Amino acid sequence: MTLGDAVQALTLDVHLGPDDMAAALRSDARKGLTSSPKQLQPRWFYDEVGCSLFDRITCLDEYYLTRRERQILVNHADDIAVATGADTLVELGSGTSEKTRILLDAFSEAGALQRFVPFDIAEATLRSAAAAVASEYPGTSVHAVVGDFEHHVGLLPHEGLRVVAFLGSTIGNLVPAKRAKLLSEIAGNLDDGESLLLGCDLVKDTHRLVAAYNDAFGVTAAFNLNVLSVLNRELGAGFDPERFAHVACFDTENEWIEMRLRSLEAQTVPVVDLGIEVEFGEGEEMRTEVSTKFRREGVERELDEAGLELRHFWSDEGGDFGLFLAFR
Ligand code: SAH
Ligand code: TRP
Repeated sequence: MTLGDAVQALTLDVHLGPDDMAAALRSDARKGLTSSPKQLQPRWFYDEVGCSLFDRITCLDEYYLTRRERQILVNHADDIAVATGADTLVELGSGTSEKTRILLDAFSEAGALQRFVPFDIAEATLRSAAAAVASEYPGTSVHAVVGDFEHHVGLLPHEGLRVVAFLGSTIGNLVPAKRAKLLSEIAGNLDDGESLLLGCDLVKDTHRLVAAYNDAFGVTAAFNLNVLSVLNRELGAGFDPERFAHVACFDTENEWIEMRLRSLEAQTVPVVDLGIEVEFGEGEEMRTEVSTKFRREGVERELDEAGLELRHFWSDEGGDFGLFLAFR
């Protein structure tokens, strides 16, 4: 393949450029840091440092999610290729698209793969993943999209017969109302016969759940604290990450892991670009993320409410993780 072909096989749409990103961060940070309790939106974890810390999380002993989901994909990628009949694989929150290659391989072997559409808010990670896939799968066109899945799902390209993969239990990082909105936007964007492949972590023993978000090496702590460095760099904030601690606990009522940053002392943090000073009390906790743990019936209900029909459910031997395939 000539370089010209390789270049042509890769296109990039940007729905969220640096200026939009900066404006969205300012607005989220202003809202979250001035509300009570304080909170930050998880999309801001994923700068380049955050993306590489997340990669390390996926390899941790405690973080079973990635291994289990990969095992299900290995066992059922052929079934997925047949059941969807798709020639276009769209992936939301695609990151490095590491596990996705299992699907790309199965679709290629079925002779069906025309197109891959990775969609992520992290432009640098998306660009390098898209380029890697384009060179590993000659003959497949890669149409990468930089966007926020909470705002830009309606802008997904309509090309070919699509299956939209949303893996890694990233859907669980949205609270129920936002999940419902996203699922109905996906359903509204799909044409008849197109499908959604959704990876969801399942409810299990609390100790294993908490350990997955509080590993012995402190990688998850570093990932959580890194959001403060993002605020320092992007908004001229004065957070000292050493004065905050990573907290992960399981909320049994909502059945989600809640990630927080606890202020180790009373402190005032300037956020220069917002023109505000944020007061933290000693021990005050700011929510940075939820990671919902699902039950099969609950996911089926949410899909149904969005207008998607669940046709297949696959799990690993231990029932740790679930992969749901639903159709429009
Ligand atoms: N799918 C991969 C990566 C999961 S990490 C896996 O299963 O391992 C979550 C990914 O979603 C990151 O790449 C992050 O940049 C992206 N992401 C987070 N919030 C997003 C948003 N609002 N819109 C688009 N992408 C988002
Ligand atoms: N989607 C992943 C999950 O819910 C994201 C994630 C993993 C994460 N570990 C984290 C988010 C630690 C914040 C902090 O499991």
